[in-house]
Amino acid sequence: QRHLLGIEQLAPDEITTLLDLSQHYAELNRGPDKHGDALAGMTQVNMFFENSTRTLASFEIAGLRLGADVMNMPMQASSIKKGETLIDTALTLNAMHPDLLVVRHPHSGAVNLLAEKVNCAVLNAGDGRHEHPTQGLLDALTIRRKKGRLHRLTVAICGDIAHSRVARSNIWLLGKMESRLRLVGPPTLIPSGAADWGVEVYHDMAEGLRGADVVMMLRLQKERMDGGFIPSEREYYHRYGLDAEKLSHAAPDAIVMHPGPMNRGVEIDGTIADDINRSVIQEQVEMGVAVRMAAMDLLAQNLRAARAA
Ligand code: CP
Repeated sequence: QRHLLGIEQLAPDEITTLLDLSQHYAELNRGPDKHGDALAGMTQVNMFFENSTRTLASFEIAGLRLGADVMNMPMQASSIKKGETLIDTALTLNAMHPDLLVVRHPHSGAVNLLAEKVNCAVLNAGDGRHEHPTQGLLDALTIRRKKGRLHRLTVAICGDIAHSRVARSNIWLLGKMESRLRLVGPPTLIPSGAADWGVEVYHDMAEGLRGADVVMMLRLQKERMDGGFIPSEREYYHRYGLDAEKLSHAAPDAIVMHPGPMNRGVEIDGTIADDINRSVIQEQVEMGVAVRMAAMDLLAQNLRAARAA
């Protein structure tokens, strides 16, 4: 692949290759020398048109650890504010010969459009409610490390599915790897066509979590609710917030995941999020660096091969 735009385009063997290399980098990152040279001589530009803590920091660390020259484009201070379009901005940066462009954008499909206009490899760091492929990969790596496999696991993805790019990338990825998927949430936050995605749909947490191996909680993404129905946080927590009682319906060794940013007391109880026997939230963050190192390493190899041909 030339770009990493979504999980939808990846075959199961490509996902396994990415996860295997990510596992290598996860081990490297826990050692005394974290540096490699897979991106030596390359320029990585991070363009984030939406806020980020985890994704931006981990892409920057990943690039630096692999020897790239890394620039975080300050989009709030860019000429986008003077009316320049996304495409003109991308073409302007493209003229400076970057090798890797990491892009987050509030509009679904914007990163795919941009990838058609530039010569370098483009990595989607989250576009609207469409995809967040490196999040899907880091979630899969975390599950594989904890459970030893991805197939024949029951994974409950809970909460605001309708506005979640994380949910979509996970549904694509875990479905391709033969996990059993359940979506759990209020009818207003689960797309009406979800039953066609090869998943089971539940509106009750006790039923949806019954026997689940993995419980993945999602934030209410109010920034994408476009003036539509926004549930009261108190009512939402009562019915869908993960607490000890609701978690008791999952398998006794179920792991709890959350992509972050997390709203404690809304979609998850703080004591569950901090319970190191159940929560793998910090390991998800850790795996984010490893996955982004692997993704950029593989795209850089493809780029070098294409340039040499
Ligand atoms: N999970 C995730 O994308 O977090 P950030 O928005 O902080 O990057």
